[in-house]
Amino acid sequence: MSQEFTEYVKTAFGPKSTPKTRRVLGSLIQHIHDFTRENHITVDEWMWGVNFINRIGQMSDEKRNEGILVSDVIGLEALVDTITHASDAKGHTSSAIIGPFYRDNSPVYPNGASIIQKEVGGEKTLVSGKVTDTKGQPLKGAKIEVWHCAPNGLYEQQDPEQPEYNLRGTFYADDEGNYSFVGLRPTAYPIPYDGPAGDLLQLMDRHPMRPGHIHWRVSHPEFHTLITQIYDSECKYAKDDSVFAVKEDIIVNFNPVEDNSPLKAKGIQNTLDYDIILVLEEEIRKTRQKVEDQHAAVEKTLTARLDSVNV
Ligand SMILES: [Fe+2]
Repeated sequence: MSQEFTEYVKTAFGPKSTPKTRRVLGSLIQHIHDFTRENHITVDEWMWGVNFINRIGQMSDEKRNEGILVSDVIGLEALVDTITHASDAKGHTSSAIIGPFYRDNSPVYPNGASIIQKEVGGEKTLVSGKVTDTKGQPLKGAKIEVWHCAPNGLYEQQDPEQPEYNLRGTFYADDEGNYSFVGLRPTAYPIPYDGPAGDLLQLMDRHPMRPGHIHWRVSHPEFHTLITQIYDSECKYAKDDSVFAVKEDIIVNFNPVEDNSPLKAKGIQNTLDYDIILVLEEEIRKTRQKVEDQHAAVEKTLTARLDSVNV
């Protein structure tokens, strides 16, 4: 069927549909029709796709979101994340996907404290740095939430052997914007691959591993909340992430502690210096507004066209 058929479907909107619905769903219909024509999709292949989508729903519950996993392995969440946090301003820390294991209200610790509530192995690491704006001004009182998995690859809520809120905590930057905490050098782990997302990985002949990473959520009034991850440069998956979330500026170096360092006596094996740069919410809003203006122009043209067709 031709583009004429697609155009016909795209005009099938009632008068109560909003301009945004017409634009977004119209675009979706166009792309799905183009994909179907381009690949000569047959009834059997379409039914395979329908069953695949149904299985995503059947596999999901309050503990597992297969829709996110499938999005992740085709790079969709990483793409959406980048679009959501886009800004014309330069110099701020890149965002990365939040992942499924964030919990709010993690314990508040003083700077320098450990987030390790129970020894689970791994290399203790002192992480420290400064939170600033894009001009280098310290952001006193910035709220820093961090979380990472244990060396067995499990986050505390997945693992009955770990106490609640193990390996996660909340810190506040001091008057100079400085923060610090003790955690573990992060471990690579596989995303769940016993469902449709795993089937896709297998079809593409890919592994399910994510590079070792620490998750961050950093917030301060008037600034855009930064959700990101940092990746261990020595992890072999840092350049081969199953969910495509790695960006160059959030790959970091863990430095081994010298034998004669007082940190060694405290069991600290690595240090990590990591500064975080936040961007004003206003900058993100300005960039977003430009996109909204472009959309409004498209919607105006589209509505005029649909009105003329539906006369
Ligand atoms: Fe993670």
